[in-house]
Amino acid sequence: MKTIIILGAGQFGQACANLINTADTKLLAFGDNNSSLQGTYVGGVQVLPVEDAVDLKPDCALIAVTDQTRTAQLQDQAKKAGFSGAFLLLGQLYRWFDIRSATLHRMADRLIRQQIPGDIAELGVYKGDLAWQLNALFPDRTIHLFDTFEGFDARDVREEAKQGFSRAREGDFADTSLEAVRNRLPYPEKALFHKGFFPRTAAGLENCRFSLVSLDADLYAPILAGLEFFYPCLSSGGMILLHDYNNRRFRGASKAVEDYEKAHGPLPLVPLCDLHGTAVIIKV
Ligand SMILES: C[S@@+](CC[C@H](N)C(=O)[O-])C[C@H]1O[C@@H](n2cnc3c(N)ncnc32)[C@H](O)[C@@H]1O
Repeated sequence: MKTIIILGAGQFGQACANLINTADTKLLAFGDNNSSLQGTYVGGVQVLPVEDAVDLKPDCALIAVTDQTRTAQLQDQAKKAGFSGAFLLLGQLYRWFDIRSATLHRMADRLIRQQIPGDIAELGVYKGDLAWQLNALFPDRTIHLFDTFEGFDARDVREEAKQGFSRAREGDFADTSLEAVRNRLPYPEKALFHKGFFPRTAAGLENCRFSLVSLDADLYAPILAGLEFFYPCLSSGGMILLHDYNNRRFRGASKAVEDYEKAHGPLPLVPLCDLHGTAVIIKV
């Protein structure tokens, strides 16, 4: 049995822990420099100071952060603490493998093969990283793109603060524009932009049918409103890609699902084991 430690006990470290092949590999501990995490347990595994995790003499250290500077810092810290085993760098793996995007491709394959009718939509477009992919995967379908294009709205942010769901601030994600997104799309003629505050921007679209919706608004209020609007408008067999369902930074997403289910009954939802805590909801 090989042994491993994970350096970085945040969202990404926890997601990586779930991906470990436990038949072959034992996770000994997390290591983190954040003193508020040290001494806590994640899935039954203790979070230690980095040096104490290295002292366990694992075969491998997974550096579970994606930015290069922090990756280098943690590697250096582990080496100085005497680590001489193999490093696995999430920052590098992540550049090559992306579970969410791979899942999206499989979903698109199925929707096209099954001829599930309906438009494509995304709530929470920002710079269009995912919108671009959706548009490329469905060149023949209309894609509806909903965003303020001015970042988080004060009303949603107030709700986040009141409920303690996240530290979102008004105007986060404002460094984009509708034109910049349009210019990135491979089939811009298929895009309908709905700029402004959701759900207000969905008014009049109640009769639309959707086959695939990406819900990526981060915050409780728009995600709940997104479920309320889009789920009834999904074709049978259609799917919602719900971002942040298992994301500790944005706890409003799972609460929105919980509240939707309280009001309407259980959703057929499958959590993915990607880094962002995405889930897929299917319309039966
Ligand atoms: C995480 S970003 C989306 C990332 C994007 N899907 C991508 O591929 O990079 C979240 C976006 O949701 C938008 N958003 C959040 N609440 C909204 C609301 N009530 N109405 C419209 N847009 C909203 C923000 O403006 C922001 O651009």
